[in-house]
Amino acid sequence: MITKKILATALFALTSSFAFAAGGPEVKIVGTEASRVDAESLQRGARLFVNHCLNCHSAQFMRYNRLTDIKLTEDQIKQNLMFTTDKIGETMKSAISPKDAKEWFGAVPPDLSVMARSYTSERLAAYMRGFYRDDNRETGWNNIISPNIGMPHVLGELSGTQTMLQTVFKADGKDVKTDHDAETRARAAFIAAQTMSSFEHHVEKKDGKTEHSYIVKTLVPATDGKMTPQQYDIAIADLVNFMEFVAEPHKAKRIQIGILVMFLLTILLAAAIWLKKEYWKDVT
Ligand code: HEC
Repeated sequence: MITKKILATALFALTSSFAFAAGGPEVKIVGTEASRVDAESLQRGARLFVNHCLNCHSAQFMRYNRLTDIKLTEDQIKQNLMFTTDKIGETMKSAISPKDAKEWFGAVPPDLSVMARSYTSERLAAYMRGFYRDDNRETGWNNIISPNIGMPHVLGELSGTQTMLQTVFKADGKDVKTDHDAETRARAAFIAAQTMSSFEHHVEKKDGKTEHSYIVKTLVPATDGKMTPQQYDIAIADLVNFMEFVAEPHKAKRIQIGILVMFLLTILLAAAIWLKKEYWKDVT
């Protein structure tokens, strides 16, 4: 009896985790152009980053004096952007210790040095726009991109708040291979949603039957923030832009060097072709 129960539980765990691995929540991301490379955007992003992220996170591969690369002077950096140290050659450390953070939020905030690369810029932008009010969470916040994350919405004052509207479509015990109805309706709702939304396919084994359900989560604006939605989108684009710079500060230089190398190789190739022609002219 007990073994049967364990087996059933294991099977359930397996199928549900499989469903997650196979489908995972699909996320619809709207808006936010996050690939601009201009110094002003990077500077605004830097301000947001040091003011709002370094309270909890560090960026241990980023030194403050590197910010001269985004056209800030050492004086500007010292006066406006350095809160946790007064040494310009120091790396960006967080204001709280990892131990305290773990105690307060249940998880250590990850270092943000290469977050833009590992998480991708699009996902990062969506994450920063994906917070919604959730009274079941200790922080009062949840996130559509990273469900049940321990991080509160630190830019909530700027963005205003959102709530989450969840609709569940069940394919009641029937085999969905022959009944695509629930999925079709759920997908239509997912696509129709104007704001950010996610689509999940859940598979449950109950009394020998397979139950499929489709969950559409949609974010709905609730209260206004200090910024309009458009201003907030631009702020997030700036922030992500800056985090891309943090992850790859040499990218711009690498591209320049790459172009120069290609140019030199082209000249060399032309010279080689000319030499070959010259050399063989008298032979043939
Ligand atoms: C009040 C503390 C705090 C602040 C401020 C904060 N974070 Fe976090 N952040 C956390 C914690 C805690 C986690 C880890 C949560 C977890 O793993 O459950 C986290 C995780 C993350 C993650 C990983 C998300 C994931 O899916 O794993 C990203 C990205 C992130 N933070 C970005 C930022 C950015 C960008 C800022 C600044 C705008 C910021 N954070 C400000 C506490 C904070």
